[in-house]
Amino acid sequence: MLVKFLPEEVRAKISAGEVIESPSDCVKELIENSLDASANRIEVEIIKGGKRYILVKDDGVGIHPEDLPRVILPFSTSKIERFEDLMSLRSYGFRGEGLHTISRVSRMLISSRFFNQETGYEMKVEEGKVVYVRERGMPVGTKVEVFDLFYNLPVRRNFLKKEDTERTRIIQLVKSYALVRPEVSFRLMSDGKEIMNLPSVKDPKERVEDIYNTRFEELLLERDGIKVRAFLSVSQKRGEIRLFINSRPVQNRELLEYIKRVVGNRRIGICFLEMPQYMLDVNVHPKKWDVRLMQVGKVKELISESIKRKAYLPSLSQEKGHYSAEPELVGIIESTIIVAKWMDSLYFIDQHLLEERINYEKGLSSERACKSAIKAGEKLSTAQANKLLKEWTKLSNPHTCPHGRPMHYRIPLKEVYKQIGREL
Ligand SMILES: Nc1ncnc2c1ncn2[C@@H]1O[C@H](COP(=O)(O)OP(=O)(O)OP(=O)(O)O)[C@@H](O)[C@H]1O
Ligand SMILES: [Mg+2]
Repeated sequence: MLVKFLPEEVRAKISAGEVIESPSDCVKELIENSLDASANRIEVEIIKGGKRYILVKDDGVGIHPEDLPRVILPFSTSKIERFEDLMSLRSYGFRGEGLHTISRVSRMLISSRFFNQETGYEMKVEEGKVVYVRERGMPVGTKVEVFDLFYNLPVRRNFLKKEDTERTRIIQLVKSYALVRPEVSFRLMSDGKEIMNLPSVKDPKERVEDIYNTRFEELLLERDGIKVRAFLSVSQKRGEIRLFINSRPVQNRELLEYIKRVVGNRRIGICFLEMPQYMLDVNVHPKKWDVRLMQVGKVKELISESIKRKAYLPSLSQEKGHYSAEPELVGIIESTIIVAKWMDSLYFIDQHLLEERINYEKGLSSERACKSAIKAGEKLSTAQANKLLKEWTKLSNPHTCPHGRPMHYRIPLKEVYKQIGREL
């Protein structure tokens, strides 16, 4: 057998298979590019599950006209310069192969107007080669269109999943990025129909609730530089777990299985982890669907602690006590803390957080619940305080505010008696 060197085009097509196997892989690369370009609005359009046509349009910084022909060259990136840059990476992209790979296996139109330019340019690309570049009027930003994916790789094309399957994958993908970037508005069109239209929001919880159309609890925990922010659905229906590490959607099997075990099968659990970039290696998966973590054990511990701390607390009304009277107002400290005796304990309750939680459970968004609640330092009448206490006992979560902060501090009366040397 004679060993031969494969020609460049064959090499490129073979290696393209690692990054781009399906329309959803293209959409992933293009959305990540738009996010890296600081887009505030991203529009995705697909025809026939993306097999016929994919468009990703953004209002980001755009591509400089001189850079336009370079973006489809292999290893062309504006995001890193040295390997060590991966240690402090803040962008999704770093390999400089996304556009190159797509351009090898499709026909593309890349149009862009750089933020400080008067006009935009459109570049047509076929089989990785520039066919033309011409001027074109357009707003600042970038629009990438991909036609007939794998038209030049018939075997790969035949192996594509059904249109419906590809469409579902793309919807899930757009959802993922929408979950992790609530400040960006997303719109998804499929065969001319609008599938998703999410306005930009400040509070991540609002985005989560917009997407799943159900209420969530927010849990927060931070230790040793690792931060867990998780959202758990209040209602129990069909379970779904999603994991994000430093803003990347990640499919790390070990962690996903673990979270599922802690959360249970019937809740939606969205888990965002943040940690210093040096604690992970993002360069381990061809499509960047996984990362390697330095301290998995510690991460697991934090996840289970944050989730267990809230989700499985028994509600107040289920707690067994010696007395089951209504809460009794003891007083209000510094127009901020309501002190009440209820069942066998003394409670110190933050008046603002309590009213915020009541408003929230009545159906207001967490932001509005907060705005319309009484502030710390504002004077409550005894009647008002008693009314709040009454509503407190009926809350489905009487322990934390909508943002996950504990709203009361409890001392068992037994403890008070014990401290002063009396038996209860
Ligand atoms: N939507 C966009 N807006 C602005 N610039 C873009 C956009 N898409 C691509 N670019 C520019 O083109 C370059 C090449 O993009 P490409 O996706 O091929 O590589 P990358 O994002 O740098 O790395 P990776 O291969 O890991 O995604 C980017 O580094 C960026 O400078
Ligand atoms: Mg990229």
